[in-house]
Amino acid sequence: MKPKYDFLVIGSGLAGLTYALKVAKFGSVALISKAKLEESNTYYAQGGIAAVTYQPDSYQKHVEDTHIAGDGLCNPEVVEMVIKEAPERIKELIDWGAEFDKGPDGHYDLAKEGGHSEKRILHHKDNTGFEIQRALIEQVKKCESIDILDYYFALDLITQHHLGFHVVKDKTDIECYGIYALNRRTKDIITILSKTVFLATGGIGNVYHTTTNPSIATGDGIAMVYRAMGMIENMEFVQFHPTSLYNLQERPSFLITEAIRGFGAILLTQDGNEFMHKYDQRGCLAPRDVVARAIDNELKIRGEEFVYLKCTHLDAEELKSHFPNIYAKCLELGIEITKDYIPVVPAAHYACGGVKVNLDGQTSIKNLYAAGEVSCTGLHGANRLASNSLLEAVVYSHKAAMHSISMFKKIEFCKGVPDWNDEGTSLPEEMILITQELKELQQIMTNYVGIVRSNLRLKRALDRLEIIYKETESLYEQSTVSQNLCELRNSINVAYCIIKMAKSRRESRGLHYNIDYPEKYILY
Ligand code: FAD
Ligand code: SIN
Repeated sequence: MKPKYDFLVIGSGLAGLTYALKVAKFGSVALISKAKLEESNTYYAQGGIAAVTYQPDSYQKHVEDTHIAGDGLCNPEVVEMVIKEAPERIKELIDWGAEFDKGPDGHYDLAKEGGHSEKRILHHKDNTGFEIQRALIEQVKKCESIDILDYYFALDLITQHHLGFHVVKDKTDIECYGIYALNRRTKDIITILSKTVFLATGGIGNVYHTTTNPSIATGDGIAMVYRAMGMIENMEFVQFHPTSLYNLQERPSFLITEAIRGFGAILLTQDGNEFMHKYDQRGCLAPRDVVARAIDNELKIRGEEFVYLKCTHLDAEELKSHFPNIYAKCLELGIEITKDYIPVVPAAHYACGGVKVNLDGQTSIKNLYAAGEVSCTGLHGANRLASNSLLEAVVYSHKAAMHSISMFKKIEFCKGVPDWNDEGTSLPEEMILITQELKELQQIMTNYVGIVRSNLRLKRALDRLEIIYKETESLYEQSTVSQNLCELRNSINVAYCIIKMAKSRRESRGLHYNIDYPEKYILY
C-alpha cells in the first residue's frame, strides 16, 4: 500500500514547518526532510526577520528599500503584499513560541542591515533562525496529524510522465500526484501519494565552492521542478553574502551577520584602509550586491584572499551581548573580536530565483505549491534585501496553506502510479566519481559564474558543464540510487539553469554583473 496524505510537505525549514502547522488542522500531513529536522538554511539564519514595527518606519519605506535593492525587477504587487502581511505573520511566530530580543523599554530591539533605511530587523541575538525553528519544531512534534519522516530524501515529483504520458502538450497541464522518496535508513524507495505537494526544499549554495549554506542546500526542489518541466525563473541572481569568515578549513563558511555592520563594524583592506565609500555613498551598509562586488574588486586588484571587518572601536560589552555566537566562534579560532579584526570573504548565500509561483504560492504544475528559498515570488527581483527571506518564507507559506486548504477536498488521489523504476541500475555508489564531479562543478560555478561574469566565462562554464552532465547522467542511469549521486545531479541541473539564464540576460543588473555589459556598474 502506498502511503496517502492530504498534504505532503518537503522540507523542514521555516517554510515547510509554517505550512505544515497551518494545514495540519484540516487533514493528514507528511513532513519529509532529508536530514534531521533542524538541518536547514533556516537554522543558520543570524541577522533576523525584516518587518515594519514602529514609527518613524513605514510600509512605504520598507517597500522602497526592497525595490531599490531589487534593482527594478521586484513585482510591486508582491512587495506590497509581503510587507503589509509581515506584522501578522510575525505575531503568529511569537504565538508559536519564538522569542525576539527586546530593549530595556520593552520594545523590540530592532537592528539595521544593508539597504535598509530604518532599523527594522527583529532578531534573537545572532541566532534568529535557530530560535524560530526551535519553536516551530516543538509545535510540529505536538501535532498528531503530522507524520514526521526525517531522513527521507525526495527523489522526484510524480507527474503524468511517470504514468507513461511522455508528451504534455501544454506545460500548464502538468499535474503533481506525489513523490518518490528514498528512506535513507533502509535504502527503500517509497511512493507517497498526496492531494497537494508543498515544496520547501530551500537553497542552492552548494553549487558553489564557498557558501554559507549547509550541505543540504543542493537545489533539489528546483531540479525536480525543472525535470518535471515546471517554470523556473531568475536563476541568474545568486546572492553572495559579503562577509563570511575567512577560514579555508571550514565548509560551510561561517557567516558574520550584516547586522554587525548595522551595529557599526567597518570593512577595511588588509593595509587598514576603508574602501566602501569609493563604491557607494551608503558605504558598508550599501545593498549586498554592491558590497560583495566591491570586496571582490579589492581582492582582485590587490591579489589578496580576504578583507577585514573591524569591530574594535565598538563597545566591547554590547558587542559581546548582541553577537554572542560570532564572538564565541571567532574566539575558538583565536580572533578576539573586541581586539582583533575579523578576516572575511564573500560566499554564495541565497538564490533569488527559483520555482515560479503566483500570489497563492501555486507553481505552474497543478497541485504543487512552493515557498521559501526554493521559490521565486517576485519579492526580491535582481537582489534580495537583507532579512527579507525569512519574511517571504513565512508569508508565502501562509498564502500557500490557505489556498491548498481551500482546494484539497476537490482533488482525487491519482490511480495507477507505478513504483520507482530501477531497471538496469546495479552499479554501487562509487564516491570518488561523485566527489570529483562535484568539486569540478563548484570550481566552474565559482570561477566563471560567480560575482563577476563575462560572456566568455559563461560560455566556458556551459561547455564544461555539458561534459559533467553527460558523465553524471550516464552514471545515474546505471547506478543504484543514492542521495549523493542525486544531489550531484540536482546541482548540475541547477547550475545549468543559472548559466542559461545568466547568458540570456544581456545586461548587468542587481546580482548579475557581466563585464561585457558594464554600462551600469563601472568598477574597474
Ligand atoms: P531551508 O530552511 O533551507 O529548509 C530546506 C529544507 O528542505 C531542509 O529541511 C532540507 O533538509 C529539506 N530538503 C531539501 N532537499 C530535500 C529533499 N530532496 N528531500 C527532502 N528534504 C529536502 N534570511 C533572513 O531573512 N534573515 C537572516 O538573518 C538570514 N541569515 C542567514 C544566514 C545563513 C548562514 C544562511 C545560510 C541563510 C540566511 N538567510 C537569512 C536566508 C534564510 O535563512 C533562508 O532563505 C530561509 O531560511 C530558507 O528557508 P526555507 O524553509 O525555504 O529552506
Ligand atoms: C545576515 O545576518 O547577514 C544574513 C541576513 C540575510 O541573509 O538576510
